[in-house]
Parts: sequence; C-alpha cells; structure tokens
Amino acid sequence: MTTKPIALQELPADLDKSRLPGHVAVIMDGNGRWAKQRGLPRIMGHQRGVDTLKDLLRCCRDWGVPALTAYAFSTENWGRPLEEVEFLMTLFERVLRKELKEMMEENVRIRFVGNLESLPPSLQAEIERSMEETKDNLGIQFTVATNYGGRQEIVQACRAIAAKVRQGAIEPEEIDEALVERHLYTCGLPSPDLLIRTSGEMRISNFLLWQMAYAEIYVTPTLWPDFDRAQFHQALSAYQQRERRFGKV
Ligand code: FPP
Repeated sequence: MTTKPIALQELPADLDKSRLPGHVAVIMDGNGRWAKQRGLPRIMGHQRGVDTLKDLLRCCRDWGVPALTAYAFSTENWGRPLEEVEFLMTLFERVLRKELKEMMEENVRIRFVGNLESLPPSLQAEIERSMEETKDNLGIQFTVATNYGGRQEIVQACRAIAAKVRQGAIEPEEIDEALVERHLYTCGLPSPDLLIRTSGEMRISNFLLWQMAYAEIYVTPTLWPDFDRAQFHQALSAYQQRERRFGKV
C-alpha cells in the first residue's frame, strides 16, 4: 500500500494492550501547510496524506485497535477552490478503486458516513461497491466521513425519527439515546474513545458531535502528512495516562 518504511510493527512495550482505545477518530489537518512549506501545490499535501492514512490503518491492525474513523471531507469543505474540491473527489475515487483488493485481503470493512447523495455519481458508485464488497469483513472497521457534518447528521436523524412518529411507528416517549444512535450514520459503530487532531488546532470542527461526548482529545502540532507510527505511539501513551471518569467521580 505505502512506499514509506514501516517501523514499529509490534505494539510498543510500554503500551497496555488491554487498555487500547476501541475506536480512534482522526481529523487529518495540515495537508495544505505541509505542501506550502515545501513549495508544492496544496493537492500534493492531500496526496501525501493518503499514505499517512493507509499506514495508520495498518498500524491499527498491527497494534490491535479495532476501529478507525477519518474525517476526509466536511460539509464546509465545498467552500474550497473548485480545483481542490475536484482533486479531492477524484483522489477518493482513485484510492478506493486502487485499494479495494488489498482491503479485501486485509479483512478491512470500509464504511462511508455523511451526505453521500451529493457526491459525484462515479464516486458514489465506487463507495457503494467498496462498502458492499467489504461488508462481511471482520477485521478492522474503517470509516471515512465524506461530505460529513455532525449537525447535519443529527438533523437527518431527527427528521427520520419525526417521520416515524408521524406514521405512528413510534411514540415520542420511546425516543431515547439508543434510538437516536440507531438513526445516526454511525449506527452500529462504538463511539470514539480517542480523537486525534493534527496541526495544532483545538477544535472539533463539526466532527462526530454526538459520538464525541466522552472521547479523549489529543492534539499534536505535527502536520497530517508527517503523522507516523511514532506519533501514534505518543497519542496512545497520552491516552493511557488519562483517567476516564465518564462524568463520575
Ligand atoms: C485537511 O487539511 C485535509 C483535508 C480536507 C483532506 C483530507 C483527505 C485525505 C488525506 C485523503 C483521504 C483519502 C481517502 C480515500 C479516505 P487542510 O487542507 O485543511 O490543511 P491546511 O489546514 O494546512 O490548509
């Protein structure tokens, strides 16, 4: 998958295997700055970011993290220059087409979350094909948030629930957290335990708003294309030093 050298294949000895996060989410920020620092067009940062993501996916598999979710394109990202948006759409499609065989061999289940209907039809077709072909894979669960917005996800869940109430299929009193969760794009996926954001911004940026309720947040100044296994090791070490109380004492 990647041409970068792969070090640290075993779980580092200082990490406790029994206390790894069950689900890691990543905001892959800093691709544009990484490219700019090298005098390259922004799109080269995204291109390089794909290698980083592929290696992180493999690292999760090697170290025993069962679920990874990446924020690839937000509902706000349409406001970027047209050529960058078009490059990203083509990149997603190209990567999916190229990597499907290897995802099957590596037992990856890929899922896309977001408002997928407004993506280019050829990308939608590739997304559907990859989700369908990998749906019975029991290895790592890899989720890609594309044309995703957390508020928009909650709004569409409200609409779906309201429609069921109107039909008389459910009573308003039956609406609880579990029911709302079943109407989110991420239905069936556990909430993230750890959110990693690269490039130093201290924001959630409309990512998995509901699901992030008790996630531990780790922000690193490293730009996404430079986020490697050593950096992931540091994020997991920091996570294992946190005391998670879930609102209790
Ligand atoms: C944010 O960096 C990054 C993105 C908006 C795109 C991330 C997408 C990928 C790495 C491709 C993933 C591919 C697949 C198939 C899942 P930025 O452009 O905001 O960087 P900046 O803040 O430095 O400008």
